[in-house]
Amino acid sequence: MKALILVGGFGTRLRPLTITTPKPLVEFGNKPMIVHQIEALVKAGVKDIVLAVSYRPEIMVKAMEKYEKELGIKIHFSVETEPLGTAGPLALAASVLEKDNTPFFVLNSDVICEFPFENLLAFHQAHGGEGTIMVTKVDDPSKYGVVVNRDGGKSSSIERFVEKPTEFISNKINAGIYIFNPAILKRIEARPMSIEKEVFPPMAADGQIHSMELPGFWMDVGQPKDFLTGTGLWLSSVAKKTPAVLASGPQIVGHVLMDPTAKIGENCKIGPNVVLGPGVVVGDGVRMSRSVVLANAVVKDHAWVQSTIVGWSSSVGRWSRLEGVCVLGDDVHISDEIYMNGARVLPHKSVSANVAEPQIIM
Ligand code: GDD
Ligand code: MG
Repeated sequence: MKALILVGGFGTRLRPLTITTPKPLVEFGNKPMIVHQIEALVKAGVKDIVLAVSYRPEIMVKAMEKYEKELGIKIHFSVETEPLGTAGPLALAASVLEKDNTPFFVLNSDVICEFPFENLLAFHQAHGGEGTIMVTKVDDPSKYGVVVNRDGGKSSSIERFVEKPTEFISNKINAGIYIFNPAILKRIEARPMSIEKEVFPPMAADGQIHSMELPGFWMDVGQPKDFLTGTGLWLSSVAKKTPAVLASGPQIVGHVLMDPTAKIGENCKIGPNVVLGPGVVVGDGVRMSRSVVLANAVVKDHAWVQSTIVGWSSSVGRWSRLEGVCVLGDDVHISDEIYMNGARVLPHKSVSANVAEPQIIM
């Protein structure tokens, strides 16, 4: 089987992390986001994966070599000279996607869930239409693509697809996970084109697109707040399936994932919903919850870290207090006894004054 992952886009909403690392390579649960997707695709029998890239392909190419070998698959890079949106990349990669005239998966690169690809394939083959969209329910549908089904919602056939609706239509949204027959390629051109605005609405009118309800959790982790929420949901799912991989002990509260090379000091309270990356060092008396600490960062003694992403090789000073979705970029250094609320700190900065209100430090 084949799949295409929409990797392009600048990842601006996940700045400052994406200033130094492309969004799909930012570690989610100590593994590049895109690797969660690739592993799930491989499990479902996918052998050819197209990564549709519109920005800085070199870094991605290098990072993927290892997984290509490890997983025994072919990763094709489809590089756009200008961003082709969410549909154009399918036309650009048509030669791979048309192979064998069998269905192929398409994914947004910033979504996380349990990826039930086998069920999606079976469902898709059973209805016989050109495409299937996985859908999920959310409280605020306005920042997503919204789906309305035929027969007052009883049919799986989609009647209307509206991207980012300004007024409420339904709380059933596009989860960014699709399967299509190669026939869809007739609807797509190799120009900047939106699958949500230019392809799904006519497919719905033709009765060629269906929806399948996604079981379990789902999150678009393309923004810091959602990245932290998604981490918590993902940790709960890991706790159900493979609890042994999570950390335990007197200093651990709730779900915590700790790389084997991460170290914590004494008298800490770590968790719930914390991920500590490789080489991370946490000092004594640290209190941390709903946070992600990326590789080689240091959190010094008695720091209080809540709802924060600490970037690679950064440091948080003694007795500092970080909260309100702070995001520290790569190699950021926070002095001792600093208070930060919702600060976004650009790479290679040092901060030695309090940041009481959310702002960007550059
Ligand atoms: N190759 C390529 N080229 N990829 C692109 C481009 C491009 O020009 N533009 C965006 N992408 C990729 C992004 O990297 C992401 O993986 C995916 O396409 C969707 O773009 P986002 O910018 O993340 O869109 P969104 O989150 O606002 O909305 C989309 O996702 C929602 C679910 O999270 C839509 O598909 C919504 O309908 C959907 O509900
Ligand atoms: Mg997104």
